Amino acid sequence: MNPSSTPEWHALAEHYEQIKDLHLKELFTLDPDRAGRLSFEGAGWHMDLSKNRITTETLDLLWDLARVMRVQEEAQRMFQGEKINVTEGRAVLHVALRNISNEPIKVDGVDVMPGVNRVLAQMREFAHKLHKGEFLGHRGKPIKNIVNIGIGGSDLGPLMVYEALKAYGKRDLHLSFISNIDGAHSAEVLRELDPDHTLFIVASKTFTTQETMTNAETAKAWLIQGTGGDPKAVAKHFVALSTNLEAVAAFGIARQNIFEFWDWVGGRYSLTSAIGLPLMLGLGVDVFDELRAGFFQMDRHFLTSPIEKNLPINLALVGLWYNNFFGAESLAMLPYSQYLHRFPAYFQQGDMESNGKGTDREGNAVNYQTGPIVWGEPGTGGQHAFYQLIHQGTKLIPTDFIGFAAPVEEHGDHQEKLMSNFFAQQKALAFGKGIEELKAEKCPEELIAYKLFSGNRPSTALMAPKLTPKSVGALIALYEHKVFVQGVLWNIYSFDQWGVELGKQLAKGVLKDLSEGTVSKDHDSSTASLLKYYHLHRRG
Ligand code: F6P
Repeated sequence: MNPSSTPEWHALAEHYEQIKDLHLKELFTLDPDRAGRLSFEGAGWHMDLSKNRITTETLDLLWDLARVMRVQEEAQRMFQGEKINVTEGRAVLHVALRNISNEPIKVDGVDVMPGVNRVLAQMREFAHKLHKGEFLGHRGKPIKNIVNIGIGGSDLGPLMVYEALKAYGKRDLHLSFISNIDGAHSAEVLRELDPDHTLFIVASKTFTTQETMTNAETAKAWLIQGTGGDPKAVAKHFVALSTNLEAVAAFGIARQNIFEFWDWVGGRYSLTSAIGLPLMLGLGVDVFDELRAGFFQMDRHFLTSPIEKNLPINLALVGLWYNNFFGAESLAMLPYSQYLHRFPAYFQQGDMESNGKGTDREGNAVNYQTGPIVWGEPGTGGQHAFYQLIHQGTKLIPTDFIGFAAPVEEHGDHQEKLMSNFFAQQKALAFGKGIEELKAEKCPEELIAYKLFSGNRPSTALMAPKLTPKSVGALIALYEHKVFVQGVLWNIYSFDQWGVELGKQLAKGVLKDLSEGTVSKDHDSSTASLLKYYHLHRRG
């Protein structure tokens, strides 16, 4: 169903006309208890929507839209293993990966939970062995370095969570990540390592991805050369995380070192599958279990809470409000935690690969905006870079501020200083600074126009008591489900990614030219001229 043809969408459009010029200052004056009314609690997170350009009526109307688009019914379908990834004919069951209740979830009549638990047990056993120093390399040396080779969902998630939770981790194991096909990435990572003490995790759902396979081959050659030249070393220094067991075996990885997952796990939703193995190794089994428990808590909250109290649904609805009625193009994710420095990058894939779609579920081109451009950096670095534009620029940029009451570790007064910025930035965005205030500060007349802050710039605050494995798990699930809800509201398919195919396909043709020093006739004049430039300068 086209959401923009529904009476609920039209009601929102009318309502937008009525409230679009209301300033957040007025909204807070009219309703001093606004924060109380527009705050939500769930799975250990507190979400304050009051500094958004909404009223309680806006939310009522947005809830009506969620009802008519059957958001909760669609969520049920996902959790029950229905094949909601229609264009790939697959179920979408990342929720099964952290289903610590173990209640059966069936795909084609078969419960997936025994398989999930089997692989988790295999991962745990492997991690224990490695942590106890019992998993030895080809020449009998213990493993001290883990290198994850993957890209996209097989890289961003483990990397983001490793960075997020490294304070809880095993500092004695060194974890690094290779993703870019640029040879510099492998070279710079490998330069630091001793092959005898290094374990490679080749993470690829398909085990065909060009970047990953190229990097894995490079690592294999480096490993064999560095451990005495015996190809059998691969079996002791490589493990694989994949759905493609045949291709893994062909690479030379021992059967017991393959950690399987399934086609109903989307790459960008695979963090709690075997793709999480580097986290179990680098952070510990308990940390990984706690992380999954956090995911599960938010999954339950999402599945069972009414629309009016549901964090992911309300976060999604407010996003849609800006995207489709205010015409906002982007969403800035601003974690006030250095540990979450890869969080915006992770959800660039999570959100943009899921909802960057222009065709609806009936195969028609949509006549409304879909997924936002997601970007961001941690506070306070971002404040000294791009916040200027958010405060005084001409674009409306909805922002999500993510913060924690207590630091992971106490470091003098850093936490108070960090969080004073978290609160102050949201105040500045919402309420701005007017002429009267500037005059009272004796601002020179000619500078007033430049020093004005119009305010009325929206922010959502997300807070948890502390960054822990559990709170991070719940936070990731919150955004995953937000993305899901928006996909339902926009009537698009969120779980395929056909948009990444064309570039891959064309690269094959270009690679042939680059390898052979030719310029094929079928290129356009721009590509042909760039290839000529490349050939001219390739060897200096
Ligand atoms: O970029 C496309 C994509 O298919 C992502 O969805 C996926 O996370 C990534 O490539 C890596 O794929 P694989 O795990 O199969 O190597």
